[in-house]
Amino acid sequence: MKIMTVVGARPNYMKAAPIIMAIRKHNKKTAQANAELAGEVAVPVIDHILVHTGQHYDALMSDSFFADLNLPAPDVRLGVGSGSHAAQTAEVIKRFEAVLLRERPDVVIVVGDVNSTLGCALVTSKISFDSAGKRPLLAHVEAGLRSFDRAMPEEINRVLTDHICDLLFVTEESALRNLQNEGIAPETVHFVGNTMIDSLIAFKEKAETSTILERLNLRARTANNGKGGPIARYALLTLHRPSNVDIGDTFLNILAGLEELAADCPIVFPVHPRTQQRIKELGSALQPGMSGTTIHGDGTTMNGNGRDSGNHRGGLILTDPLGYLDFLCLMKHATIVVTDSGGIQEETTFLRIPCVTVRDNTERPATVESGTNIIAGTTKEKVEAAIRRQMASEGSNKMPKKWDGRAATRIIDVLVSAYCGRAASRQSAMCSSLGEGVSPSSRGSSGCAPSVLGT
Ligand code: UD1
Repeated sequence: MKIMTVVGARPNYMKAAPIIMAIRKHNKKTAQANAELAGEVAVPVIDHILVHTGQHYDALMSDSFFADLNLPAPDVRLGVGSGSHAAQTAEVIKRFEAVLLRERPDVVIVVGDVNSTLGCALVTSKISFDSAGKRPLLAHVEAGLRSFDRAMPEEINRVLTDHICDLLFVTEESALRNLQNEGIAPETVHFVGNTMIDSLIAFKEKAETSTILERLNLRARTANNGKGGPIARYALLTLHRPSNVDIGDTFLNILAGLEELAADCPIVFPVHPRTQQRIKELGSALQPGMSGTTIHGDGTTMNGNGRDSGNHRGGLILTDPLGYLDFLCLMKHATIVVTDSGGIQEETTFLRIPCVTVRDNTERPATVESGTNIIAGTTKEKVEAAIRRQMASEGSNKMPKKWDGRAATRIIDVLVSAYCGRAASRQSAMCSSLGEGVSPSSRGSSGCAPSVLGT
């Protein structure tokens, strides 16, 4: 069984990593089970191919995540790079088709909602390997999320991807309702949980080995030979949506809404390349919203020596984009997180850290229902009010269903079953066209051993 997984942009890596881990575990278990069955091969071993489209290509937006998440190097790199939505998606489509025709996988997995997700899904749904129209099963991980805001490019990517996929893997209950309302066949939808949370669970202890708190001078260096001292109160900020950073005065309004918080505690702001560009363009116009700013160097180190100048009583601490473990460490210990990201709303829900989402909507309502997330809007007053509310909040204990670290295992179980079912029906069609009777295997019509698949 050949599975091809596609990643392209930063939020894809942590969603794909647990799937690759689950495939490794499946293969180990299958090797043992098949050995016990003495040569009667019942469950397929999975041959995995990782494709990186290159939508994100900087070391800080890509390579560092492969290292942090123990991801294998991509088997195929499409190198599409940046461009307009049309140009970027078109490059993904053009380059992915050749890979698909060469590798002929049984299953293609796309994750999330970025341009690479839609581009590769579109190619897979229309490819044909033979005259009978044989093509891979197409699976979407993180299906069914809806912001109902078609001005968001990601919303277009989500809707279109879901409607051309064969198997839809869902992270929260709202997605089940959305897919049902859109007339998607229920037997194609599987509520498995959240692979991004699988990664968080797998790496949350390792994140404690990060030195980011020391590098940003957020941990007193008094105990344990200068390490492990008490952690200062700080907030964490991320902003990268075009609607927030590129359009009109929204960026300045959000920063103005953060001034009160910045006077109270430092705000760590790892800056996405799109936002870095905007900050350069705005130049001195930013000053009123950024008093007390500590600006770090433009490379991988801060102020050239990996440490900042210290003495944070408030203001923004700007850094380059951070790796997975550094960012996870910062999230775990933050007093509050302010963001326009989708994934961070989920990660803070799992970590039970108060989150203020500077958007008008969310495609992840489970994060609001859990009590950790507020959808604030983007005006100065609304951002300020939401931050005040979250700073005074008591916290929450509610956790969305199935966010338990087992989503990827469930996905692989479903995919193996679907593959076996497909292989069996193809074999049966071949036999009947040859006039032969089909003798169903004693292991069931799929030919796969249920005891192994069902785990
Ligand atoms: C993309 C996704 C968005 C996701 C975000 C995470 C789409 C439609 N958007 O948005 O859903 O939340 O990734 O970051 O797919 N750039 C670099 N280095 C890189 C990558 C990009 O400098 O490695 C710069 C380029 O100037 C590029 C800009 O950042 O034009 C934006 O990158 P792009 O991939 O187009 O979109 P994101 O805003 O990152």
